[in-house]
Amino acid sequence: MNPQIIAISNHKGGVGKTTTTVNLGAGLAHLNKKILLIDLDPQANLTQSVGLANETENLYGCIKKMYKPNPIGFAARLWAIPGSIDLSGLEVEFNNEPGREFVLKDLLTPLKESFDFILIDCPPNLGFLTLNAFCAADRVIIPLQAEFLAMHGLTRIIEIIGKVQSRINPNLQLEGIVITQYNSRKILNKDIAATAEKHFGDKVFKQFIRENIDLAEAPSRGQEIFRSSPGCNGAKDYYWLARELMRRLVPESGWY
Ligand SMILES: Nc1ncnc2c1ncn2[C@@H]1O[C@H](COP(=O)(O)OP(=O)(O)OP(=O)(O)O)[C@@H](O)[C@H]1O
Ligand SMILES: [Mg+2]
Repeated sequence: MNPQIIAISNHKGGVGKTTTTVNLGAGLAHLNKKILLIDLDPQANLTQSVGLANETENLYGCIKKMYKPNPIGFAARLWAIPGSIDLSGLEVEFNNEPGREFVLKDLLTPLKESFDFILIDCPPNLGFLTLNAFCAADRVIIPLQAEFLAMHGLTRIIEIIGKVQSRINPNLQLEGIVITQYNSRKILNKDIAATAEKHFGDKVFKQFIRENIDLAEAPSRGQEIFRSSPGCNGAKDYYWLARELMRRLVPESGWY
């Protein structure tokens, strides 16, 4: 398998993008893959979630060529490049520069060979930063929170992925939709999952991520779920999601 860059994106806020980036990454690391996480969100939640809030070098400085990218190892087979609030100014700073949608791709291309996966945690909008993620990525995974109005707006992001694919990055594919914060006791949750499967068929990962308090608490410890609460439902769900992703990407390997 070639190294893969995967953007984790949904312009809706709070749907589980950061949680999925960190813990799908950790699940893949448990499958012996080398993972780099990129915090592309000016909120820098991923950076805080993996305990790197006090690092001095960050993605903004790398993009501005203030220093070379130096991924920081924070657990076995897991590295990250931290984000910061300065990322929100990049759009204006690159305003008149041709090829401004490729600044992230330029940064990640030389790093790609050193990892099996680069996962990009996108901000909750479809602006300049997300466009950069789609131009750099091979695949997009969309987390979908199983709640009222979850599907609303999904056509918009899928349309943007299609436009980027046809105009800028022919390599880009929608890899799949992950149902997050799922609670089988809530009838609405079941309905939304069923609707998503009806509309998007096999694109919806079979493994749902259940609502799990340990997943919500792990970021405050600066740890991914496998270290924070091994054996909890959140760790199980992200482990099996990682295996499902590997099975999709390398179908000839029976192992996953
Ligand atoms: N499966 C889950 N069970 C319980 N809580 C969850 C789960 N997934 C995420 N959360 C919690 O829900 C909140 C939103 O999740 P997260 O930060 O991952 O979403 P996001 O899409 O990255 O948000 P934003 O759009 O602000 O970047 C967080 O407090 C997180 O801890
Ligand atoms: Mg987030």
